[in-house]
Amino acid sequence: MPEPVLISLTVNGAPHRAPAEPRLLLSDFLRYELGLTGTHVGCEHGVCGACTVLLDGEAVRACLVFAVQADGREVATVEGLAAPDGTLHPLQEAFRDAHGLQCGFCTPGILMSMLPFLRDNPTPTEPEVREALSGNLCRCTGYQNIVDAVLLAARRGAAEAP
Ligand code: FES
Ligand code: FES
Repeated sequence: MPEPVLISLTVNGAPHRAPAEPRLLLSDFLRYELGLTGTHVGCEHGVCGACTVLLDGEAVRACLVFAVQADGREVATVEGLAAPDGTLHPLQEAFRDAHGLQCGFCTPGILMSMLPFLRDNPTPTEPEVREALSGNLCRCTGYQNIVDAVLLAARRGAAEAP
């Protein structure tokens, strides 16, 4: 079995150094090494989007990235969205207010997908939101309230939030 290698990365603004076997997925590293279980794992082969995190500001599927590939880079997970005092990010508030979730399993991945989407397109149309959501599967909501939540977040200027 290959020896673990020590990797250094920033996660939600905090520096981490930890060993990772070369075959360890970033999703498993976040969950089992760092205890950040907000990154959910559904399919483990890049289909469902539940594991989406930001890598240097861009959405990636953490089940398709090896932890060693994050060495020296910045990762953002859903745990980093709310302020330290617990105040929700405007995108999270919009999901709460528009009932954009039911069981919540898909929600972290959807939030982390919509964050760079709204950054790059702060005033999207509904079709654009639907297309942006097309890589994230939700088994509960039927998507309408998720679309409404993203549009509400856009109207509230969520893209400008830190
Ligand atoms: S768990 Fe990564 S895309 Fe489904
Ligand atoms: S809210 Fe349950 S899977 Fe989306």
